[in-house]
Order: sequence, then C-alpha cells, then structure tokens
Amino acid sequence: MRISVTGAGYVGLVTAAALASKGHNVIVVDTDETKVGMINQKKSPIFEEGLDDMLSNCIESNHLRATGDYEGILDTDITLICVGTPSNPDGSMNLGYITESAKEIGRMLGVKGERHAVVVRSTVVPGTTKGIIIPALEQYSRKKAHVDFDVAVNPEFLQEGKALHGFFNPDRIIIGEEEQRAGDMVQELYEGISAPTIRMGITTAEMIKFTSNAFLATKISFINDIGNICKRLGVDVYDVVKGVGVDYRIGEHFLSAGIGFGGSCLPKDLKALVHSSRHLGYQPMVLESVLDVNKNQILNMLRMVEERLGNLEGKTICVLGLAFKPNTDDIRNAPALEVIRLLMEKGASVKAYDPLAMPNARSVLPEKVQYCRDAHETVNGCDCILVLTEWDEFKDESLYHEKMVFDGRRVLDPGEARTFCDYHGICW
Ligand code: UGA
Repeated sequence: MRISVTGAGYVGLVTAAALASKGHNVIVVDTDETKVGMINQKKSPIFEEGLDDMLSNCIESNHLRATGDYEGILDTDITLICVGTPSNPDGSMNLGYITESAKEIGRMLGVKGERHAVVVRSTVVPGTTKGIIIPALEQYSRKKAHVDFDVAVNPEFLQEGKALHGFFNPDRIIIGEEEQRAGDMVQELYEGISAPTIRMGITTAEMIKFTSNAFLATKISFINDIGNICKRLGVDVYDVVKGVGVDYRIGEHFLSAGIGFGGSCLPKDLKALVHSSRHLGYQPMVLESVLDVNKNQILNMLRMVEERLGNLEGKTICVLGLAFKPNTDDIRNAPALEVIRLLMEKGASVKAYDPLAMPNARSVLPEKVQYCRDAHETVNGCDCILVLTEWDEFKDESLYHEKMVFDGRRVLDPGEARTFCDYHGICW
C-alpha cells in the first residue's frame, strides 16, 4: 500500500519503519526539518531498539522517505495521524498538533482526485475524532467523511524500548470505524501479523486505548499502595505478588512496586482522562487516587532518605538512573527528575548517571547536577545512593558495598543486599 504517516515521534517512526519493512511504500510527513533531514540520512531522531537499522534498510530499499511538505500525502492512499498529544498545564490533552495535522490533511483531500483514508493512531481523548478531527478534515477539504473519504481509528499499544517487537507481535489490533471500507484498509496494513482483530465504533476504540493505559497505571499504584502497607508489616511485596499473580483473574504483570510510573503516556493519558471525566460531570475517584499514590511514592523516597540522613543540606546524593524506564533515553515525567529537584531544593548536591538519558536530562534539570561518566564514578564519595531506573548495569553489587542504598526499582535482592550494604527498598 502507499501510506503516509504524519508525525516523526515514537509512534510515527516506529509505525512507518515497521510498515515499510513489510514492503509498503511509506512517506513520513513532519514539519520539523531537522527530523526530516535525519531520517532521510538514515538516522533515527529518537532512540528505540532496532529502529536505526530498520529505518536505514527501508530508506536504502526506497520503501521509506521523509518530507516536511503535506503534499507528500497526495502520492498515498492512506494517512496515519501519529502526531503528539501532550498535556496542557491543567492536565487536559493538548490537541493543537493533531488539529493542525487534520487541517493540513483536509487541504490535501480537497485537491486529491482519488479516494483517501485517514486513520487516527495518536492517543486522543474519546470523542476527539468525531468532535474535532472529522470536522477539521471536512472543513478544509470541503468533502464529506465516510462519503468522499474514509476515517478510522487504530490506537497503538506499543511500549517504548520494545516498540518494534510490539508492532509485529501485538496482543490485539483495535480498529474503530463508521463504515467497513475504512476498517478493511486498516486491516490490510496488518496483513501477515497474527493477532485478534477487534472492530468497533470510533469513540469506543479511542476509549479502549485510554482504558488500557488507565488500568496499567492503576495496577502500578495499587501494588505501590499494597507495598507501602507491606513495608510497615515487614512483608516483602514481591513475595506477595508471587502468590497473587498466579490467579489468572489478576495476573503477574505490571505489579512491580517501586518509585512509580513515568513516561510520555501513562501520566499524560490518566490526567487527560480525569480532566475529561470531570468535564463530563463525573469525578473519577479511583483514577484520581492512582495519580495521588504515584506522586506520593516520590515523597516517600525523600522521607526515607531524610529519616536516615537527617538534614540534606550539604549532603552528596548519588542518583543512578534518569530515564523513566530502562532501554530508553526518554526522561518525560521520569520520577528521577522530580526526586532530584526536591533533593536540590533541600540543599543536597546531586551526582547522577544514566547510560542513555543524560543529554536529555541536562536540558531540563538544574545546572548544578554533576553528571558522571559511569556508575562507579557516581557512587564514589556520596552519602547515599538512590536507584531510580532498573538498568541492568545497576545490578552490579560491587557498586553498593558498604554504602547506604535506597532502591526505588528493586534492582537488588533485598536479602543479599543487606549482607553488603545498608539497604532500603522503597516499599519492601
Ligand atoms: C505505555 C503502555 O504500556 C503502552 O501499552 C502504550 O502503548 C504506551 O504507554 C502509549 O500510550 O503509547 P510506555 O510509556 O512505553 O508504554 O511505558 P511502560 O512500559 O508502560 O512503563 C510506564 C512506567 O511504569 C515506567 O516508568 C515503568 O517503570 C513503570 N512501571 C511499569 C512500574 O513502575 N511497575 C510496573 O510493574 C510496570
């Protein structure tokens, strides 16, 4: 198929490269000329396992190219909207980029002779496709959705760090449609990929994406709540999960207690769902608590450190891990950022190390943070160590000998760790 993808972020690039590698002809449209230049020079503007190689192969075989010009979509039959939907300061979803993208696509639909399909793959608040995107497409094309052009929703469930694997091995393919032709075109994109395909209305598909992320976040805050109780009882929450997770109704996944969830998706989508729910006249009490528990884990970590070290003024604290999870350089909403800001507010000096995320962290953290070359250099001469991302290299026990350690990600086995360091788990 001839496919255009708008937005060269995580979702857009992974989707574009994966589809091009299946033999489709893909054009990536992004208004950021730097990104466009990088892609055409076979370099991924983001770090994602396997993406650089896949992009480069697809460009060499002429299956993928990038452009800054929306006219690129005229040479395609279907456009996947993958632009970002970040948070506004009040937690609502910023639909500025997606609205702009819909207008530009609309303009192109207005001059295109053949029929075209538009697929919303960005995460949007339920109701956005019908309430904002379709009206923009219709206004700028002066054509009628479902009559002159097709519209579908196809949310992504990719996890950063294993997004390409996730694309080719999805748990399910969700297709939201108003008429069959649009859904059939989306289904064709995934030909050869084996997964249950579930087709439904457009707003239901949007809600499935939000519900999935909200449920994942709920599992994490739930187990952190239980973990905080366990800690007071002297019980290891990880042992509890072993016994609970075997119940097929509960499952063992996404029950790793720790410093809490970050990233560009779970916090943002949850806040947007809470905001939209209040707007609809319903106060979503469970979801609000999920956000509160998550925020509180950071304060719990600070309290633990202060209980042992006393006043933090003049103390040197080592932070291992800045990314919101391992195998990515992404620091968006990473718990480490907030922990570091609070430590510095309390007068502590911070030495930090992350295998990939330091360049990104430098641009948002206070200048005074001292970045180190490796984990061993970081832990040298500090009053305590905080582990905030579970990179494999932080499992090296020689980093922690005779040190005071606060583990926010269960990188060490607590029983063993207590034999060689002053070890404290955040909720175990
Ligand atoms: C999340 C969802 O998992 C994807 O299915 C979804 O497609 C994506 O958002 C999105 O909306 O685009 P991602 O943000 O890449 O994916 O990250 P996750 O792997 O879900 O992890 C999120 C955060 O939760 C991380 O900070 C991680 O450390 C934390 N986490 C995860 C826990 O604290 N405990 C767990 O048991 C699992």
